[in-house]
Amino acid sequence: MNRTVFRRFVVAVSAAVFAGGAVAGERLDIGKREYEANCVVCHGVKGKGDGPFNQVLTIKTPDLTVLSKNNDGLFPVSRVLEVIDGRNVVKGHGTREMPIWGDIYTAQASPQFDDYPYNAALFVWARTLALIDYLNRLQVK
Ligand code: HEC
Repeated sequence: MNRTVFRRFVVAVSAAVFAGGAVAGERLDIGKREYEANCVVCHGVKGKGDGPFNQVLTIKTPDLTVLSKNNDGLFPVSRVLEVIDGRNVVKGHGTREMPIWGDIYTAQASPQFDDYPYNAALFVWARTLALIDYLNRLQVK
């Protein structure tokens, strides 16, 4: 068992459970890290939809800081969840340019942990929830 990978898993689950709180001895913002690793290239550093990848996209990347504002002040958790895990295919000019992250997370989880009897779905869930928590924190008032 790769210790670093296992440790990341534990920290991810802990962060999801204690979302917003301090994780034992370490201040790690999993959601921010997930966002910066997977979303920033299109959605931009602050979520405004101005990432560098827009130069090659044929449809405009939406501003993720106004999701609540556009939903009567409520953060649309299920919609965002479904857009991230791929259940809700976002449409624009007839093609889908947004990768299906749930599948990618699952693919990343499985091979790393195949020697350890853990629940891969939980790993994917923890990363996704941390990301949703981070997007919620990006919302303009
Ligand atoms: C390759 C560029 C790209 C990447 C990377 C990307 N997105 Fe997107 N995203 C888009 C585009 C383009 C749309 C709009 C699609 C449409 O309108 O059909 C979109 C739409 C969305 C929406 C729907 C917004 C709304 O108003 O309903 C959410 C939420 C979202 N993305 C979150 C994320 C998250 C979280 C990540 C990282 C895990 C991410 N995106 C990564 C390009 C990207």
